[in-house]
Amino acid sequence: MKNLTLNNGNTIPQFGLGTWKSEPGEVKNAVKYALSIGYQHIDCAPIYGNEKEVGEGLKESFAEKIVNREDIFITSKLWNNRHYKQDVVPALKQTLQDLQLDYLDLYLIHWPVAFKSDVNFPEDGSGLLSLSEVPLIETWQGMEEAAREGLVKNIGVSNFSIKKLENIRLNCNLQPSMNQVECHPYLQQDELLAYCQNNDIAFTAYSPLGSKDRPKFVKNDNEPILLENEVIKKIAQKHQATTAQILIKWAIERETIVIPKSVSPERIKQNYEAQNISLDTEDMEQIQALNLNYRYVDASFFVFPNSSYTVENIWE
Ligand code: A2P
Repeated sequence: MKNLTLNNGNTIPQFGLGTWKSEPGEVKNAVKYALSIGYQHIDCAPIYGNEKEVGEGLKESFAEKIVNREDIFITSKLWNNRHYKQDVVPALKQTLQDLQLDYLDLYLIHWPVAFKSDVNFPEDGSGLLSLSEVPLIETWQGMEEAAREGLVKNIGVSNFSIKKLENIRLNCNLQPSMNQVECHPYLQQDELLAYCQNNDIAFTAYSPLGSKDRPKFVKNDNEPILLENEVIKKIAQKHQATTAQILIKWAIERETIVIPKSVSPERIKQNYEAQNISLDTEDMEQIQALNLNYRYVDASFFVFPNSSYTVENIWE
């Protein structure tokens, strides 16, 4: 598996396993199976509601000598209700306890959106805190503290725009190593990707397969179905591959990191084997023409009357 180098000289495996939407009862075996066939990178978050079970999968994998801790890369994310600077280290310690780890490889600010401490997911505008009340740079200082304490080797952000990254970059002590955002042929993110590449920020593509298993509140009517796109299907036929494999290899060809989620052993293996496909220039050009700037995860679930957040200002 190919590694990419981060801006502090550390490396990250370019391909990993996503765990958003992986249910407790399924995710432990998914993690163990993935690690047993060569995955070296698992992407987690406390809001996925399954970190304890991911932790059991990791613990058993170490005990059964499937992998060593130092040979794998574990990411987790700071949830929106822990944005105050002093809340970051305790939140990370909770995640470490759940994952049964001593350190993380990467910790990300999950969203540029802040909630009150006692709110896990807001039901109205009163559960949110504005970014003037809790500026992102303060949250970032908490991330820097976590890195200084040795609890995490690399720190970064998720769902950040160029403008928000600029704000962090110009005011921080430790530069962000990563921006993890939705990215696939319907949302190619060329401008953001170029910005990250030019500024030595690695770029992880989430929802690379279109996340068809999203919960209802993260879905819109009449969405385009990425895995059923006719152009992708034709390219898949040409390579005797599946559409999912073409989507994964497209992300790898663009030098992004990619974290497809699956809890099915067959698909976990299939996704891993996508690394062996070779897409040619014609394939890449055909896929490039599919961009719709379409977000599946559009952040509208954070938008309520009487709050400072709009879909536009979350992404701007
Ligand atoms: P499952 O977990 O049952 O395999 P994303 O990574 O974009 O969030 O997409 C995850 C969704 O895609 C899940 O519904 C997952 O289902 C499904 N999926 C994962 N791998 C494949 C594959 N190789 N072929 C088809 N669907 C897949």
